[in-house]
Amino acid sequence: MRDKLERLKESALRAVDQAANPAELEELRVRLLGKKGELTQVLRELGTVPPAERPALGELANVIKTAVQQRLESRGETLQAQAMELRLHAEAVDVTLPGRRQPPGGVHPVTRAFQEINGIFLAMGFPVASGPEIESDWHNFEALNIPADHPAREMHDTFYLPPAADGSKRVLRTHTSPVQIRAMLAHKPPLRFLAPGRVYRCDSDITHSPMFHQVEGFMVDRDVHFGHLKGILELFLERFFERSLPVRFRPSYFPFTEPSAEVDMGCLFCGGKGCRVCKGSGWLEVLGCGMIHPNVLKSVHIDQEVWSGFAFGIGVERLAMLKYGIDDLRNFYDNDVRFLTRHAVMV
Ligand code: DAH
Repeated sequence: MRDKLERLKESALRAVDQAANPAELEELRVRLLGKKGELTQVLRELGTVPPAERPALGELANVIKTAVQQRLESRGETLQAQAMELRLHAEAVDVTLPGRRQPPGGVHPVTRAFQEINGIFLAMGFPVASGPEIESDWHNFEALNIPADHPAREMHDTFYLPPAADGSKRVLRTHTSPVQIRAMLAHKPPLRFLAPGRVYRCDSDITHSPMFHQVEGFMVDRDVHFGHLKGILELFLERFFERSLPVRFRPSYFPFTEPSAEVDMGCLFCGGKGCRVCKGSGWLEVLGCGMIHPNVLKSVHIDQEVWSGFAFGIGVERLAMLKYGIDDLRNFYDNDVRFLTRHAVMV
C-alpha cells in the first residue's frame, strides 16, 4: 500500500509538470483527485489494511493529496503566465512605426462660393429656398413668360424628359428661376428669397458644362424699384470680391424681367485698362437681373397694382473662377486632387 501511494505520488507529480495547457491540467485534477480519481480510489482501499497501519497510511495519503494539489496550483500559475507572455508578444505594437496619414477633406470651390454668396444675402435678409431639379415645363418656362414658341427657349438647350404621370411636360431645369414661381405660389408677399442650386443645359465645351450652378435672388414688396436692385447687387459684389469696383447696369433682355439688365464690374485683373480676361473691354459680365415682368406676377396671382419685385441670376462657376483665379471651367468637375487641394478650403 505504501509503495502504491509513493508510486502514485511520483507519477502524479510528473504528469502535472508535463501538462501543456490549462485544459490538460483540469483533466489531470479530475483524474487524480476527483470522486473517481486515482488517489481517492487508493484512500478507499484503506479500509482493507490492518487497523494498526491505517493512521500512518492515512496521513501519508493526505500529505500526497496536498502535495498534488499544490503542484496543480503552481503549474496552473506557470501555464497562465506563459499564455500571457505569448499573447503580449503576439499583440505587440511597434510604436516606432510611422503613422498612416489621413489627408484632411476640404470644401469644393463651388460649395465655397455658394457659402460665401448665401452668407452675404442672408445678412441682407434673404433666406434660402429650393426647388426640384426635375421641373415642369410650366415652372421652368411658361410661368416665366417663355411660351412654347418663344425664341428664348433656344438659348436654353433644354434636356427634355418623358412626361409626368398626369401628362405634363418635364425638363431638367435650365435655370434656378422656376424657384421664383414656386416661392411666389407658396408664400404671400412681401417676400424675398435666395435660391442656390444645380441647373442643366445640353452644352459642353471649355466654358460650358452640362451641369452647372446658379443662385437666383428675388424680392417682392410694396414700392420695390430698380434702385433697390442696384443697391443690393452693388453691395453684394463689393462684399463678394472684397473690394470696391465700378459696377454698371447695361440694358438687356430676359423674358421674365422688364426692364432687364446685364451687370458688368470693372475688371479684377487689369483694373479697367483691358486685358485677356476682359477681352480688352475693361469690364467683366457678372450677372443678369431686372424687375419681375407683369406676366410673371400674373401667373402666380400677385396683384401688380400693389406689389412689385426684382430678380437676379448669378452664375456660380463664373464668379468662383473670377474670385479664386480658376481659368478652366472643367477643373470644377474633373476631380483632380491637385486642383481641389489648391482651391478647397480646409475644414
Ligand atoms: N435665368 C437666367 C438664366 O439662366 C438668369 C437670370 C437673369 C435670372 C435675369 C434672373 C434675372 O432672375 O432677372 O440665364
